[in-house]
Amino acid sequence: MDKHKFETSAIRTQLSQTAHKEHSAPLFLTSSFTFDSAEKGARIFKGEQAGNLYSRFSNPNTEELANKLSEMEGTEAGMTTASGMAAVFTSMAALLQSGDHIISSKSIFGNSIYILDQILPSWGIEVSYVDIHDKEGWTKAFRKNTKMLYLETPSNPTLQTADLGYIGALCQQHKVIFSVDNCFATPYLQQPTLFGADLIIHSATKYIDGQGRVLGGAILGKKNHVSKCYDFVRRTGAALSPFNAWVLSKSLETLALRMDRHCANAATLADFLAEQADFSSVIYPHHRSYPQLDLAKKQMAQGGGLVGCEIKGGAARGARFINALQLHSKTANLGDSRSIATHPASTTHSKLTEAQQLDIDITPGYLRFSVGLEHIDDIIKDIDQALHHSRN
Ligand SMILES: Cc1ncc(COP(=O)(O)O)c(C=O)c1O
Repeated sequence: MDKHKFETSAIRTQLSQTAHKEHSAPLFLTSSFTFDSAEKGARIFKGEQAGNLYSRFSNPNTEELANKLSEMEGTEAGMTTASGMAAVFTSMAALLQSGDHIISSKSIFGNSIYILDQILPSWGIEVSYVDIHDKEGWTKAFRKNTKMLYLETPSNPTLQTADLGYIGALCQQHKVIFSVDNCFATPYLQQPTLFGADLIIHSATKYIDGQGRVLGGAILGKKNHVSKCYDFVRRTGAALSPFNAWVLSKSLETLALRMDRHCANAATLADFLAEQADFSSVIYPHHRSYPQLDLAKKQMAQGGGLVGCEIKGGAARGARFINALQLHSKTANLGDSRSIATHPASTTHSKLTEAQQLDIDITPGYLRFSVGLEHIDDIIKDIDQALHHSRN
């Protein structure tokens, strides 16, 4: 049969039916699996025969999720991890060695910066950062020992866009593993492999779950890279629980529908915010005012579900505004059906110094909205009343 369309793969990539003839894939909540014989067990352990042994190694539910995500991202192989951070860490720890060099975009999630700043250097791995927009900086960053280039696009939390095609070509030329955290876009909006990415990292906790219930992560990409990451997790333990994999695989069935609504709501909200005198800037990758609009349109099918803005009056006004919100949740998560307002400087990126925050455009008054699936009129009404109440 021909390759399925995205929405069909998201629903029909499923485990084979068991003898019970269930319609929806069952949950395999088991830590281990039995062998028909000692000889068969030995063959599975040696890798000479396929089969499940133990859920830290493999489980039908994690396998279904990995296969589905790999299909959706268009990669050769895939695997799952206990969280998005486990995916980021595993991809680096499994593929880099002492003496290697990694180039990273400056504009990445705070905990990923922690791995690069605090963990990798203590293992003898060199790290250097490049401004996401600095084409010359990317070109000059490569060294003889560069092994990997890592970035997020759109980036957390300021929604900046990396030029995947340009950077992908550089990685190819230097034979460097190009690793992209695609958590904000999801494979429905952006497939980094089309632009040369070798590895795709996901926090499945975000849009892949979509309802703020479970943690999860995934590493997708070339077989040789994924199998090293798989061996690392299998032995070091950051395996995804079968229950979480089951939840996440079900969630993917509605990813396309949900993302369409997240994007439509976010685009409308961006238009509303842009008209308010309370904000000095509004950042939304498909908004007419977005500095890299052409690039964002080339790489992403729609603008995504996140909107950033700079509220006039800085951190104090931002806090008054967030406190006045009634419908929006005050939390640091994103990609939920519920709309969320976050103040990155005091939450997701609070471990950075103020100078480090400003260096990556996280100003004291920067706010990030994860636009949910509620009716857009209610979302806007809540923001409107909070703006009014926070004015003095
Ligand atoms: C871009 C990005 N990557 C990775 C992560 C880490 O994911 P998790 O919270 O599932 O560990 C996050 C979390 O916010 C994120 O925003």
